[in-house]
Amino acid sequence: MSDACPNCGKPVLPTDTTCWHCGYALPKRPKAPPPPRPQPGRAGPAEAATATADYDLRALAIYGLLTAATQAPSAHNRQPWRFVVMTTSAARARLAAAMGAQLRRDLAADGLPAEAIARDAGRAYARISGAPALVLLCLTLADMDAYPDAHRRGHEATMAVQSVAMAGQNLLLAAHALGLGACWLCAPLFCADVVRQTLDLPADWQPQGLITLGYPAETRQKTRAPLETRVLYR
Ligand SMILES: Cc1cc2nc3c(=O)[nH]c(=O)nc-3n(C[C@H](O)[C@H](O)[C@H](O)COP(=O)(O)O)c2cc1C
Repeated sequence: MSDACPNCGKPVLPTDTTCWHCGYALPKRPKAPPPPRPQPGRAGPAEAATATADYDLRALAIYGLLTAATQAPSAHNRQPWRFVVMTTSAARARLAAAMGAQLRRDLAADGLPAEAIARDAGRAYARISGAPALVLLCLTLADMDAYPDAHRRGHEATMAVQSVAMAGQNLLLAAHALGLGACWLCAPLFCADVVRQTLDLPADWQPQGLITLGYPAETRQKTRAPLETRVLYR
């Protein structure tokens, strides 16, 4: 069963502590009863589907997005993409805080004034912790070909990056098709160890990008350079 956010009226899950549409801090609610389970011999598949249809639609949507992501082509079909899904506000806040602390250290080392650091770090924290859902896109070289020389190893690594990026693009397109807003953030590349530690990732999972997901707060025109400045015809 889903509730409605008292601020924006959109549906939220019984387990949500903040509204994943508008970010409103939800009041504490009594623990929701578990979804009804069909009894053998009493309810068939159709009734079971109806009874649980509105249960965790967010998880269902993310399952769909990841399925779309994994239809991407990949070098040797090795599928070097890995995903970490964060739907709870606690998980998102924990990652945002850890990444924010690293960002503040990096900006301080760059010599930025304290106000600029606070502004940049605050903005990054808000974007990450406030996103209704996050998908961390990772890469593993575990199944890619191993070469003795750096030259071919480099190309193999590039192919893995290209494959993971294609999975990421599929995810973005699938999100768009569902009317969701999504943004690829490069920040995990700059604090990979912090991300790996905070999320307790397997050692070979290399964070590549963090995709924020939610309903779009605004729509903007795409700005693109004229095509003729990007193409050669021979
Ligand atoms: C590899 C990659 C890294 C990106 N990193 C960021 C980022 O850290 N922060 C951000 O706001 N957008 C990021 N973006 C989104 C781009 O800024 C965005 O796609 C670009 O400005 C064009 O906007 P549009 O896609 O809405 O047309 C990234 C996109 C890609 C593909």
